[in-house]
Amino acid sequence: MSFEEMWAALLPVGRSAATGGYDRFVWTPSELECRAWFLDEARARSLDVEPDGNGNLFAWWYPSSGRRDGAVLTGSHLDSVPGGGAFDGPLGVVSAFAAIDLLRARGIEPDRPLGVGVFAEEEGARFGVACLGSRLLSGAIDPARARALTDGEGLTYAAVAEENGVDPAGIGRDDDLLGRIGCYVELHVEQGRALAPGTPVGVASAIIPHGRWRLDFTGEGNHAGTTRLIDRRDPMLPFASTVLAARASADRHDSVATIGKVRIVPGGVNAIPSAVSAWLDSRGPDERSVRATVSDVLEHARAAGLGHGVSVELTEESYTEVVDFNLELRDRVVKALGGVRALGGVPVLPTGAGHDAGILSAVLPTAMLFVRNPTGVSHAPAEHAETDDCLAGVEALASVLADLVRG
Ligand code: GLV
Ligand code: MN
Ligand code: MN
Ligand code: MN
Repeated sequence: MSFEEMWAALLPVGRSAATGGYDRFVWTPSELECRAWFLDEARARSLDVEPDGNGNLFAWWYPSSGRRDGAVLTGSHLDSVPGGGAFDGPLGVVSAFAAIDLLRARGIEPDRPLGVGVFAEEEGARFGVACLGSRLLSGAIDPARARALTDGEGLTYAAVAEENGVDPAGIGRDDDLLGRIGCYVELHVEQGRALAPGTPVGVASAIIPHGRWRLDFTGEGNHAGTTRLIDRRDPMLPFASTVLAARASADRHDSVATIGKVRIVPGGVNAIPSAVSAWLDSRGPDERSVRATVSDVLEHARAAGLGHGVSVELTEESYTEVVDFNLELRDRVVKALGGVRALGGVPVLPTGAGHDAGILSAVLPTAMLFVRNPTGVSHAPAEHAETDDCLAGVEALASVLADLVRG
């Protein structure tokens, strides 16, 4: 199937007719459908499908020499944020297959194994920790912690993984697999408005530090009609002012902060909530700015809570330090792109979005290609990339892979 046909096949999967947004959460029916699509495309190309022990999928084109080491891996993820766009993740996987087709059409045979990877739970939308599959593979998260993570229904990662054929006892760093991979190159839709018209492809320089924190506001549930204002311990009040404080703190520390997910207990119209949990996503140019933002938010939340008899606890759910992509690989990628006429210049740019390539950079040389996003919107239905730019991305990826699989 061509790039366009693959794209068309994936497009309806997990898409809400009402909003146009995608819900593809790891090991839910829509994400499983995407995985089945991946397996079909891999088999249609006679690639060797080899799932790992961490819920990630790999499909390998092994060279006729039988060589198994020094592999070049590309790919991305197929899960989404709630109500996400079509491109974040799948573009890298579809482009990987299309790039393999281009190499074959051009008679290029790899000297090294060339793989397409799909990493599980990249968005952390189900179990809360982004890039969970690549964190497990690279040893960036304690397997015991991963096993105990729960989804919104209280199901553990261990139970859900097991149901889906992954032995929870066997998850964790996989030195055998890592030892066979020479580098990872992930193609991804660009997620801001960083690439100008006429510049379909860029190369990543860095990922800024980012993390997720949970604020638990605990008050006292009570009746909405019979409880005098003076007697209330309503966690919504300090929570509400904390949302505003997060914006002000981020502004002070040259960072960004977002509260995009809230859980209100019990969530009745006519009941004062007993508890509110709010998830804070904070990112900034350096660790100091991110941590200063978070500590200001906590300080504000606690002070606001005091005035309402509400206690506040902060839990760090994940923190990812700055990623500076491997310079040698980046230079090689930029050089390989120099010969692709459709690209014009190839800007090298940092991003505020997290990626498996960032997590894997701790254990492997990794690089990223970005495809222009004319809307500048991501993690929302308006996320977009023009087909011509996507095809330029496939050309770019094929050129990079053709270079890397040699020798
Ligand atoms: C994932 O895409 C993130 O940056 O949150
Ligand atoms: Mn994303
Ligand atoms: Mn992504
Ligand atoms: Mn991401």
